[in-house]
Amino acid sequence: MSLLDRVPRYVRELIPYPPGKPIEEVEREYGIADSVKLASNECPIGPSPKGVEAARKALSKLNIYPDGSGYYLKKHLSEKLGMSDENFILGNGSNEIIELIIRTFIKEGDEAVMGDPAFVVYQLITKGAGGKALAVPLLDYTHDLKAMAAAVTERTKIVFVANPNNPTGTIVDRKEMETFFEAVPDDVLMVFDEAYFEYASGSDEYQDAMAYIESRPNVIVLRTFSKAYGLAGLRVGYGIASPGLISMLERVRQPFNVNSPALAAAVAALDDEEHLNRALEVNREGMAWLEGELEKAGFEVVKSFANFILFDARMNAAELYEALLRKGVIVRPMGAYGMEEHIRVTVGLPEENTRFIEALNQAAA
Ligand SMILES: Cc1ncc(COP(=O)(O)O)c(C=O)c1O
Repeated sequence: MSLLDRVPRYVRELIPYPPGKPIEEVEREYGIADSVKLASNECPIGPSPKGVEAARKALSKLNIYPDGSGYYLKKHLSEKLGMSDENFILGNGSNEIIELIIRTFIKEGDEAVMGDPAFVVYQLITKGAGGKALAVPLLDYTHDLKAMAAAVTERTKIVFVANPNNPTGTIVDRKEMETFFEAVPDDVLMVFDEAYFEYASGSDEYQDAMAYIESRPNVIVLRTFSKAYGLAGLRVGYGIASPGLISMLERVRQPFNVNSPALAAAVAALDDEEHLNRALEVNREGMAWLEGELEKAGFEVVKSFANFILFDARMNAAELYEALLRKGVIVRPMGAYGMEEHIRVTVGLPEENTRFIEALNQAAA
């Protein structure tokens, strides 16, 4: 038996997450310049300037290991959100917290329930841990909470709900969420991934899961500094849950998982209301404009509560993606999510949105 044959079957069978090429490489390959990237749901106005300044200051102390407890960031978060420090775990992006959750709960043969399509990382990491991913089809682009609760078996340890969901941008209905809480057994962990919380929270229709943490020890909420705060490159996110659950996750966390510029930047960004408000404003206006333009062009648009839009291109999305790329606009075709004719586009700056719509109208003509 060779070394590679000894890799567990469930790891060998995984398909590695396909990383996008650096934008400079794409430009060189396609002979284009000044391309706009609307593919990864990043913050188009840039990072919080206060965050950048704090990270810069932290650079002079790079010889020192980061504060492994994340003391100041947890203090800041607990004050802002009215919780205590023991309710928080910090991660190298909220992605790492998804991984910590799965590592804590899933052993070979255990199950996790998630939407299909939803954020791909839930399936990827569950399978990589030898677990079984029970992917429950969305209903009208939205998590089908009834079907998800019904999919739970004796072996189910975790249920993932991305709210808002990626790639659809949809949110779950408040009433259905209440029923869901009653339907899922207390010994199943309910993960509410709120990576796009800041964008959705302005809407009356949106119910975040923070309010349930106090009364339900099987609920964890995930949030991130990667989206509205514009710190995706630094990798910092957090989980909020009961102290008992947090202490279990802390057991599998590496001591210095969040780096010191990231910790410093996140603290400062939390206080940078000006940046956050501008990010939300640019998104709100860009979203309304893009929705209008897409609908004017006859595309079916999924109502989004995040910073991106999913639409039915009514043609092969991979081909449309290529055509847009040649015009210097990078979007995300949804074939990998089983939606061969859908495109996901991130809301950009006004001029980027205009470039996208012009390119799309030409490409789809
Ligand atoms: C639903 C959802 N959850 C989590 C993440 C991960 O964010 P990060 O690891 O940057 O915090 C993303 C990123 O795109 C996402 O869309």
